[in-house]
Amino acid sequence: MDSTSRQDWWRQAVVYQIYPRSFADSDGDAIGDLNGITTRVPYLAELGVDAVWLSPFYPSALADGGYDVDDYRDVDPRLGTLSDFDNLAAALHSAGIKVIIDIVPNHTSDRHPWFREALAAPKGSPARDRYIFRGGTGPDGSEPPADWTSLFGGPAWNRVPDGQWYLHLFAPEQPDLNWDNAEVRDDFRTTLRFWSDRGVDGFRVDVAHGLAKDLVEPLATLAHVGHEALPDGTHPLWDRDEVHDIYAEWRQVFNEYDPPRTAVAEAWVHPSRRRRYASPEGLGQAFNFDLLRADFDAGAFRQVITEHLDEARQTGASSTWVLSNHDVIRHPTRYGLPPDDKQQVAEAWLKSNGTTPELDRDLGLRRARAATLLLLALPGSAYLYQGEELGLHEVGELSPDVLQDPVFRRSGGLHKGRDGCRVPLPWTIDGPSYGFGAGPAHLPQPTWFGSVSVEAQASDPASTLRLYRSALAARRQLQAAETLDWIEGGGPTVLHFTRPGGWQCVTNFGTTAVPLPHGELLLASGPLDGDRLPPDTTAWLS
Ligand code: GLC
Repeated sequence: MDSTSRQDWWRQAVVYQIYPRSFADSDGDAIGDLNGITTRVPYLAELGVDAVWLSPFYPSALADGGYDVDDYRDVDPRLGTLSDFDNLAAALHSAGIKVIIDIVPNHTSDRHPWFREALAAPKGSPARDRYIFRGGTGPDGSEPPADWTSLFGGPAWNRVPDGQWYLHLFAPEQPDLNWDNAEVRDDFRTTLRFWSDRGVDGFRVDVAHGLAKDLVEPLATLAHVGHEALPDGTHPLWDRDEVHDIYAEWRQVFNEYDPPRTAVAEAWVHPSRRRRYASPEGLGQAFNFDLLRADFDAGAFRQVITEHLDEARQTGASSTWVLSNHDVIRHPTRYGLPPDDKQQVAEAWLKSNGTTPELDRDLGLRRARAATLLLLALPGSAYLYQGEELGLHEVGELSPDVLQDPVFRRSGGLHKGRDGCRVPLPWTIDGPSYGFGAGPAHLPQPTWFGSVSVEAQASDPASTLRLYRSALAARRQLQAAETLDWIEGGGPTVLHFTRPGGWQCVTNFGTTAVPLPHGELLLASGPLDGDRLPPDTTAWLS
């Protein structure tokens, strides 16, 4: 590799997200661990991914699946040790796979030594200044400082015994940090160096748009707090311009390394504001969740793709494409439910334990395969979520008593939460936890998991696993400059484009088969109908 491509490895990388507790369990305690991932490095190499992104593996009480971090520079003992991490990183690197880790800077856990110290310290102390403590309102201060709700439901403020309140935009176990505090800023730079020195290649930045807040009193009246995406940076809690000063400091740290460490922002912001997170002076890349939110529809896909390629040209970053992650309903399930009001239908389906409305599993999977093959042909980097290479559907069957996501409890049962996409992976057709570990898994796996396991799919050339393997191998060969040209003429329900070098991708979003374009067929997401491309199918040609 020349030095330019060495530095730019991330631009068109396929990044595979691992949710460590649900990937592979090496010691039979029902929780996936780092050694479990190490044993599966050959699987990742055979799949053909360029990088792995590890969701948090730090010590944590799991109040929010590990996004409540007790110590940013250690490994949860249930998941392993720092030396297990080093082994995993070494195994991935020797398989040619980069390592990206998740960094959670908006909040610590309530078990972090800083928060314990803050609770033990008096009002107005330096220890409290690392977080966001305020006096209450009302005659005796028994009302919260402001009317804000947390994203997981319930008030965003919690009262401590001496009467002060602290801010938590997520669960009460996730107190928000005060990023105006110099010690907080210094400590995160230390953490970035700690992991970069251990060979980590990049960082995924959790809630990247939340760190800078306008907390000048009187605090704003907001009532509900969601990820409000304003076009002008005027929200007191999200996407304020000052946040970029923090990432400019981080960029200096990233650039101390060769190749520079990379970062990708999780920033639920107005599309016009995403580019600053993605700028080379900032984090360098930002997730684009628009495809994930789009209907399976040619017009919707084309609009998102066009906008994002324009945006990438302007920032100098590469586009990021995502259909699934640990926070959303898996895409085969989204595409297999009636399209009416997507969010509401999906929520209703989850609440009915996966029974109503009826999920069309085959249709959902067909569309998911077509959408994935399209996504993998786009210029830029592709972020895949563990299990999507098996075509896994969301697990709808989870009963309320097994749910772990704080969203369920804190919304009073209104939202079932995100456990359905976090059920441990099936590796084998049978056996305890379908090969996830020697014993049961920490979330119950449905009986249909055996038939979609890695073992069941590896020998079936028509399986989704084999499709992903073939697609990733072909993509490596075909990869080209970060541009595409649309080919018109297929009608409003067909998307057809070429990449430099003659790589063609065509998707039929319609209801009847259409003629395949000229060219040599390389791969298709489903069976073809002679020389015609059936509905809900993508083909690659050269
Ligand atoms: C991000 C994570 C999500 C987590 C939240 C709070 O959105 O992706 O899983 O619950 O941040 O840390």
